[in-house]
Amino acid sequence: MSVTVIVGLQWGDEGKGKITDYLAERSEVVVRYQGGNNAGHTVVKNGIWYKLHLIPSGVLYPDKICVIGNGVVIYPRALLEEIEELKEKGVKIDQENLKISDRAHIVFPYHLIEDELEEEGKGVEEIGTTKRGIGPCYKDKSERIGIRMCDLVREDVLREKLKKNIEKKNKVFKNIYGKESVDFDEIFKDYKEYGEKLKPYMMDTSLFLYEMAKKGKKILFEGAQGTLLDLDFGTYPYVTASHPVAGGASIGGGIGPTMIDEVVGVMKAYTTRVGQGPFPTELKDDIGNFLRERGYEYGTTTGRARRCGWLDLVMIKYAVRVSGVTTLALTKLDTLTGLSTIKICTKYKIGEEIVDNFPGSLEDLNHCEPIYEEMEGWNEDIRGARSFDDLPLNAQKYVRRLEELIGIEFGIISVGPSREETIMLRNF
Ligand code: IMP
Repeated sequence: MSVTVIVGLQWGDEGKGKITDYLAERSEVVVRYQGGNNAGHTVVKNGIWYKLHLIPSGVLYPDKICVIGNGVVIYPRALLEEIEELKEKGVKIDQENLKISDRAHIVFPYHLIEDELEEEGKGVEEIGTTKRGIGPCYKDKSERIGIRMCDLVREDVLREKLKKNIEKKNKVFKNIYGKESVDFDEIFKDYKEYGEKLKPYMMDTSLFLYEMAKKGKKILFEGAQGTLLDLDFGTYPYVTASHPVAGGASIGGGIGPTMIDEVVGVMKAYTTRVGQGPFPTELKDDIGNFLRERGYEYGTTTGRARRCGWLDLVMIKYAVRVSGVTTLALTKLDTLTGLSTIKICTKYKIGEEIVDNFPGSLEDLNHCEPIYEEMEGWNEDIRGARSFDDLPLNAQKYVRRLEELIGIEFGIISVGPSREETIMLRNF
């Protein structure tokens, strides 16, 4: 393993945090390549809880270098707060172990307002965003009016770009939404200060990663969100505005695709989603509630209850394909304990047609009827299992059947939230 990418194969919240933490320990550099503080996971180490939103999980190991790549959008206030909170808990963060791309785009207070107003304006068709200003920031990036880290430390550039943007945004706020304007002076002052504080961490991270890779250092790219939230490959328009798929690591980290050696796809033993949008295997019944309560399926960033359903292999196979996954990690297998029957969706019925490739059109997705294969469940507590053979026979059969249907083997099986509650099936 020299360059590895971790991707979520569902709608995010696959339990990537634990897998990332495990692989980060075996890496030298850990990189975030997309998204912003819409993401979030909690890592528990020596009884201390660490909440991470923007900083890669490698930060909890003092000898790892963490990189926030050009594809990430940074809300400086949240980042500085996260740095402070981690430092208060004794985590080392300095320019040696945290590097931030000078090309990363910045989230401004007007992006948060736009996120809120655009969602309100959509009414019942709202996306259910995290309201962190992520979409509006990426929108400015593609509109070519975005403000980047390198602009933040150049007072004249920041003043000029910010002035133009605020004038434009205020016109929309006032004329379309009848809202109060945002204040240039206040934002300029705050962001100039953020720039000064973040300057020591700033660099050309693409060049840095290239040099690290040339030296043979182990680099881990940690994807936030999941494949089905990808702007191109997700359930558009119910998606986030970035590219969580493995290819996103190349663009959002600034490394050539030929440098990626391995892609670890993380999938939960069932499916969850937060926010709106199609969900063919959703369960709005007792089993859905069972999964939510047993799996503690509530959002880390927003606290929202997650929608729950059976495992969907049409979706997983699609996600495996678009990211070129080389090994799989199965998480939260223990949540299924106690179910007498476990269902796996293997195909969809759309009208009279049976399909096994994930459809692009929202209309097709909304009319998908899942076709299930049923397997017998188990009642034994599996959290103590440390090898495959420790699993009850029905759990073993379930795992083997998934491998057979997906066509790729599991490298890791997680049977509980803590670090030790893991079955390793290969070396990394
Ligand atoms: P946004 O990323 O805040 O624009 O939200 C767009 C969609 O992505 C919404 O459905 C969110 O619930 C979802 N989303 C964003 N980040 C995460 C995440 O980390 N986990 C799960 N869903 C997410």
